[in-house]
Amino acid sequence: MNRNNHWTRRDAIKAAAAIASLPLPAWSKEATMLKRPIPKTGEELPVIGLGTYNVFDVASTAEELAPRREIVDLMIEKGASLIDSSPMYNRAEKVVGDIIEQSGKREKLFLATKVWTDGKASGEQQMAASAKLMQADVIDLMQVHNLRDLDVHMATIRDWQQQGRIRYNGITDYRASALDELEAAMHKHRPQFIQINYSLGETEADRRVLPLASDLGIAVIANRPFQSGPLFSAVRGRELPGWATDFAASWGQFFLKFIVSHPSVTVAIPATSKPHHMADNLGAGFGEMPDAATRKKMAAFFASL
Ligand SMILES: NC(=O)c1ccc[n+]([C@@H]2O[C@H](COP(=O)([O-])OP(=O)(O)OC[C@H]3O[C@@H](n4cnc5c(N)ncnc54)[C@H](OP(=O)(O)O)[C@@H]3O)[C@@H](O)[C@H]2O)c1
Repeated sequence: MNRNNHWTRRDAIKAAAAIASLPLPAWSKEATMLKRPIPKTGEELPVIGLGTYNVFDVASTAEELAPRREIVDLMIEKGASLIDSSPMYNRAEKVVGDIIEQSGKREKLFLATKVWTDGKASGEQQMAASAKLMQADVIDLMQVHNLRDLDVHMATIRDWQQQGRIRYNGITDYRASALDELEAAMHKHRPQFIQINYSLGETEADRRVLPLASDLGIAVIANRPFQSGPLFSAVRGRELPGWATDFAASWGQFFLKFIVSHPSVTVAIPATSKPHHMADNLGAGFGEMPDAATRKKMAAFFASL
């Protein structure tokens, strides 16, 4: 990046070299990304997706779009599909839409966004705007962001599902303190998806919400898989433990495999602005996954840091 934080040709060359040098033995031509079924329909989703909070909130200039287009191209190339956005993320929905317009690969993606406002009319207006910005006649997943005006928006989303304008409904939050409220909403609304914070740094959902999602047949999107970044600070300067190198080639993959190996989790959505980080994150969808005993060992290791 240059001083203005712009993506230059030299950055592209550096990223391509970094991607090529990543130790990703599982990325053979035969390997396909692990997928999980959406319980309500059986449609399969690849376990690694992409978050867009902050990292896609940029101007739609050629310099800003280029690395993000590379990120989306990499996703598609490695078989990933879910992109998560929100009107709360300012320019992110438009950037996703601009990339889709450039690439023409809408059908390869599972587009998730959110409604984040009060009132039926405002919700409808916002959802229509999101569809336009994301270049999506049909939105794959519309989620009620942070449970805001939940009853009103769930009714609208179901109505739009009937009309064929939305495929799936969902509800989101990102705070451990909201999990009780989320649990009540799961019982009341029986959404097709929930999106919650779940990572090695935030395992509270393990106790009730994840088992409940399995019981009720609800797909789970794990947000903040790196706790928005601090998980990397916790391991800065440390090598991966020897026992983890069988299944992870990097700390990013260690963190993501902890999440996607939970049997109730459908997809994790790490956010990134950097193609070489996307390549790293996608690697977590391939190869061996930690079993229950190894997951315990990972949690104990992380707690001991
Ligand atoms: N209420 C809600 O619905 C809600 C709340 C929170 C989040 N979310 C969703 O969840 C997504 C993910 O959460 P998040 O954005 O808070 O944070 P996150 O994905 O936990 O972490 C993102 C940070 O990690 C860095 N990163 C990504 N891959 C990396 C790698 N392989 N190695 C080193 N650093 C890496 C990114 O920086 P670089 O750009 O340098 O890679 C960025 O700073 C959001 O974007 C959003 O879509 C939803």
